[in-house]
Amino acid sequence: MVAPKQLLASLATIGSALGAYSFPPHQVRNAGEPVGQLKNISGIEMYISYPPGRNTSDKVLLFVTDIFGVPLLQNKLLADSLAANDYLVVMPDLFEGDAISVEEQEAGLNLTEWRALHPTPKIDSIINTTIGYLRNELKVQRIGGLGFCFGGKYVPRFLTANGGIDIGFIAHPSSLTEPEIGGIAKGISIAAGTLDASFNATAKGRAESILNTNNVTFQSNLYYGAPHGFAVRVNQSVPQQAYAKQASFIQAVTWFNAWL
Ligand SMILES: *[C@@H]1O[C@H](CO)[C@@H](O)[C@H](O)[C@H]1NC(C)=O
Ligand SMILES: *[C@@H]1O[C@H](CO)[C@@H](O)[C@H](O)[C@H]1NC(C)=O
Ligand SMILES: *[C@@H]1O[C@H](CO)[C@@H](O)[C@H](O)[C@H]1NC(C)=O
Ligand SMILES: *[C@@H]1O[C@H](CO)[C@@H](O)[C@H](O)[C@H]1NC(C)=O
Ligand SMILES: *[C@@H]1O[C@H](CO)[C@@H](O)[C@H](O)[C@H]1NC(C)=O
Ligand SMILES: *[C@@H]1O[C@H](CO)[C@@H](O)[C@H](O)[C@H]1NC(C)=O
Ligand SMILES: *[C@@H]1O[C@H](CO)[C@@H](O)[C@H](O)[C@H]1NC(C)=O
Repeated sequence: MVAPKQLLASLATIGSALGAYSFPPHQVRNAGEPVGQLKNISGIEMYISYPPGRNTSDKVLLFVTDIFGVPLLQNKLLADSLAANDYLVVMPDLFEGDAISVEEQEAGLNLTEWRALHPTPKIDSIINTTIGYLRNELKVQRIGGLGFCFGGKYVPRFLTANGGIDIGFIAHPSSLTEPEIGGIAKGISIAAGTLDASFNATAKGRAESILNTNNVTFQSNLYYGAPHGFAVRVNQSVPQQAYAKQASFIQAVTWFNAWL
């Protein structure tokens, strides 16, 4: 039986070996008012959330959203929760004001038609412009990328050898292809749910096998009872869902604290 003090001391030793490792990370915030700011940069609206007491950080995260985008409260609170862990978080509007609302989705909006209005080259270009802003104007050396649902396809696309993102985290990705996974050359952390048909346990296993074959540093977790979207939107009354959201948040923060 290890005494708590000794356990903390050994965690601190691991921490210093990994650099600026903070333990434990702050919790994900699920309710309340967002604290970040909206800015129009290079013609793209961006939600920027700042680390406590500062407007800058050498640790910068690019947040690539789901289809609900910047307007969704839970996306802004998630960005704020990351920022509270000492990151500068930048979340660009990928859809030029055309993000979907939860109500529209529930009313049966035709997603095929909507997707056609926001093709992959267009999204790539918005992400590339955001990376340009971070590198050229904010002089950021290393960028961590997070992708949720829709965004989970795009972070891997920028984790190639010459891609603009240095380390990634994705949760319940949509439309992520095996060639895109095969192109990943930098570290990636993956959060998957057993109830997610878009990226199920089989897809997760395939991804692990590809990353392992390619010698990419990776980590992956499968959350039982977690549906598509669980890292962003969950029913807090369902214990497995509430747990999956909080644990996948800590997964992301722990990952970036160690590798960014
Ligand atoms: C952002 O600024 C550009 C001009 O720089 C303007 O064309 C565009 O409409 C603005 N976008 C938003 C969302 O305010
Ligand atoms: C932080 O403040 C400085 C000085 O006002 C400004 O130049 C810079 O753009 C700000 N950074 C962000 C990310 O807003
Ligand atoms: C959605 O739109 C596409 C393209 O217009 C069409 O082929 C498809 O049938 C529509 N789906 C539904 C459920 O209406
Ligand atoms: C990416 O952005 C840079 C500016 O930061 C630009 O020079 C380059 O052409 C862009 N590439 C693509 C593929 O959009
Ligand atoms: C995942 O989905 C694929 C097809 O989309 C299916 O073949 C496979 O059995 C599913 N795996 C699980 C664990 O449900
Ligand atoms: C992965 O590393 C092993 C051991 O160093 C090496 O044999 C193999 O060629 C590497 N594979 C790739 C895809 O780089
Ligand atoms: C959330 O889960 C609870 C418990 O299963 C259920 O009663 C409630 O209807 C759910 N809420 C929504 C919005 O689905």
